[in-house]
Amino acid sequence: MKGVILAGGLGTRLSPLTKITNKHLLPIYDKPMIYYPIETLIKAGITDIMVVTGGNHAGDFLRLMGNGKEFGLKHINYTYQEGEGGIADALSLAEYFADGESICVILGDNIIERNIIKAVKDFEHQGRGAKILLKEVPDPERFGVAEIADGRLANIVEKPAAPKSNLAVIGIYLYDARVFDIVKTLKPSERGELEITDVNNAYVREGTMTWEMLKGWWTDAGTFESLLRANVLVSQTGANNT
Ligand code: DAU
Repeated sequence: MKGVILAGGLGTRLSPLTKITNKHLLPIYDKPMIYYPIETLIKAGITDIMVVTGGNHAGDFLRLMGNGKEFGLKHINYTYQEGEGGIADALSLAEYFADGESICVILGDNIIERNIIKAVKDFEHQGRGAKILLKEVPDPERFGVAEIADGRLANIVEKPAAPKSNLAVIGIYLYDARVFDIVKTLKPSERGELEITDVNNAYVREGTMTWEMLKGWWTDAGTFESLLRANVLVSQTGANNT
């Protein structure tokens, strides 16, 4: 399985912090934000990694991470997303890299306390389709929200005004190689983006989407409140613990 980290977008919600740097290079406690998803993949045994970045500061990723020696990697792949076409648009740039293999996709601003080894192994056994991870949150309206009926995942709604559950779809996704064909069928949403929730719902409709509850804390870091929370959580427990 290959790993894809999505670190494009302009991070406008964090302006002026993101005026002269990329959001994913901002500090989370003692490391730049992008280190955490890289370590999440490596701890799950995924070492063939592509970082999708964008904006005006893409070169700084190369200066920071080079070929990944600091992480024990031989190589890191990079690609560049023009504009801010959405998470699924950023993902589409990894098709050539994935080269027909399954992928584990992580949003560059998602940080977790524990590891995802079990979910990755389970998905390897599953073989086909996709898997998402869910976490109970107090503010589901900020996220993709899963609707579960009789233990079955029925639908995912992106940032619903009236969420039907408190189960957020976290930004770690496991997909088979058909995900790139699905992305090609998407139309931009009302906010003008290709939505990862539309990708996930395509698998839900097909009946090949599975889900697991995430153990340990999870946070994004794309708003001032969540950036602060991420710093506090990492300072207290560390991230990507075994
Ligand atoms: O954090 C989990 C949530 O992430 C999910 O629950 C939502 O379903 C999903 O849509 C997403 O929601 P956000 O609106 O919070 O995503 P955001 O626009 O902040 O983007 C998250 C990361 O995705 C960002 O750190 C970098 C990457 N990204 C985003 C966009 C819009 C890209 O690489 N390119 C993009 O064009």
